[in-house]
Amino acid sequence: MLVLGIDTSCDDTCAAVLKDDFEILSSVVSSQDEVHGRFGGVVPELASRKHVENIIPIIDHALSSARAALSDIDVIAVTRGPGLVGSLVVGVSAAKALSLSRSIPLLGINHIEGHIASSFLTPNRPAYPFVALVVSGGHTNLYIARREGEYMLMGQTLDDAAGEAFDKVAKLLGLGYPGGRAIESAANRVRGEPVEFTRPYMKKGSHDFSFSGIKTAARNVVAAAEALDEALIGRIAAGFQEAVIDVLVSKTLDLARRESIDTIVVTGGVAANTRLRTVMDERASKRGTRVLLPPKHLCTDNAAMIAAVGRIRAHEAALNNLTLNAVSRWTI
Ligand code: KG4
Ligand code: ZN
Repeated sequence: MLVLGIDTSCDDTCAAVLKDDFEILSSVVSSQDEVHGRFGGVVPELASRKHVENIIPIIDHALSSARAALSDIDVIAVTRGPGLVGSLVVGVSAAKALSLSRSIPLLGINHIEGHIASSFLTPNRPAYPFVALVVSGGHTNLYIARREGEYMLMGQTLDDAAGEAFDKVAKLLGLGYPGGRAIESAANRVRGEPVEFTRPYMKKGSHDFSFSGIKTAARNVVAAAEALDEALIGRIAAGFQEAVIDVLVSKTLDLARRESIDTIVVTGGVAANTRLRTVMDERASKRGTRVLLPPKHLCTDNAAMIAAVGRIRAHEAALNNLTLNAVSRWTI
């Protein structure tokens, strides 16, 4: 079985072809960082225009890299939401057009379920039940995946998503967009002690997150400083990164322990952070908990993860799925 995956949920145009048992034949990601970088964040109108330009060439590229033709595709899986609706609609429209013109069954996919499914694209697949931490620019969600397609949302951010906080603090420090990788590099170059930020754990036993307080604390440090030099930037970046990671890791491990679950999946763009990967691995292995971290290029947005959900839900795919629409909010 060949599944064509398509994702245009935010600012990357992505297409991928997946074969049978989660074998990636191709995965193409066209980044728009250059377009949005000078604005310090994603400009929705520009993102959707860029998707319109890119979508057909990117799908063609994914098919040709996989040495497949459209007539070989058994299912088309496209991200329906959550995301920027003007971006989503481009992928959804392209998928509907291909489905209708070539009579290929179509399936609308939840982007967050896609992030979780990225763990199936690796040789060490998680066994159910597992705890899944999805940390991206739009979400910080903690789930228990009990069985295929069944997720219980156990915690989420009450304000900024972790990736959003990274992006905003990076902007504050003049490190540009996207901010996650920039904060990580600045933290790696730190000389001197990282600035200490209070960890927001909120109510005891709560698995919800809140990152806007750390962001404000970082802004206050900058405002109180005489000059924002290289040394202070490094100390803020390192302290901020450490505080966010500490909370993410502690709450995820706590949920796994409380539920007696011994497998944790960490995914989403922020899971590309090397320090998060190291701390999660170290602290989990002390308790004998297994951590599965997809390779970095599968943690950030891609369409192979959308095709992976398409593979799992292939039996739900339908012809004439023309009422399929894009939705900006959709929790699983
Ligand atoms: O999953 P993703 O590619 O797109 C969304 O669905 O949001 O995640 C993008 C987010 C951005 O906020 C970006 O700053 C963050 O992931 N990110 C990182 C790193 N690489 C990407 N955050 C921290 N450290 C990184 N190395
Ligand atoms: Zn994402």
